[in-house]
Amino acid sequence: TYVVTENCIRCKYMDCVEVCPVDCFYVGENFLVIHPDECIDCGVCEPECPAEAIVPDSDDKATAWAEINRTYSQQWPNITRKGEAPADAEEWNGKPDKAKLLSP
Ligand code: SF4
Ligand code: F3S
Repeated sequence: TYVVTENCIRCKYMDCVEVCPVDCFYVGENFLVIHPDECIDCGVCEPECPAEAIVPDSDDKATAWAEINRTYSQQWPNITRKGEAPADAEEWNGKPDKAKLLSP
């Protein structure tokens, strides 16, 4: 399974959702998650993210985010089409300590 991690927060470019063959992305106010039971591990979304926020669950960065992806993928609506990224997405790309800014 692939996992969306911290740097997606407030960047939310959504390039990832367009390429997923099984439409397993779910959307919150300022973050997206992948449903771990629906992801088929194809890896197509990983290079599409301009924020490099998507990693395989074997990656060290995934550890803290796997449970968050599982939890919110059961609560948030599905998303299959790219919407408009936040106007200040570029400013947030790479900012540290964004985890606390995640809107549930
Ligand atoms: Fe979708 Fe493939 Fe990314 Fe999983 S790895 S979320 S199936 S594009
Ligand atoms: Fe987030 Fe990257 Fe998708 S910033 S919305 S994981 S393209």
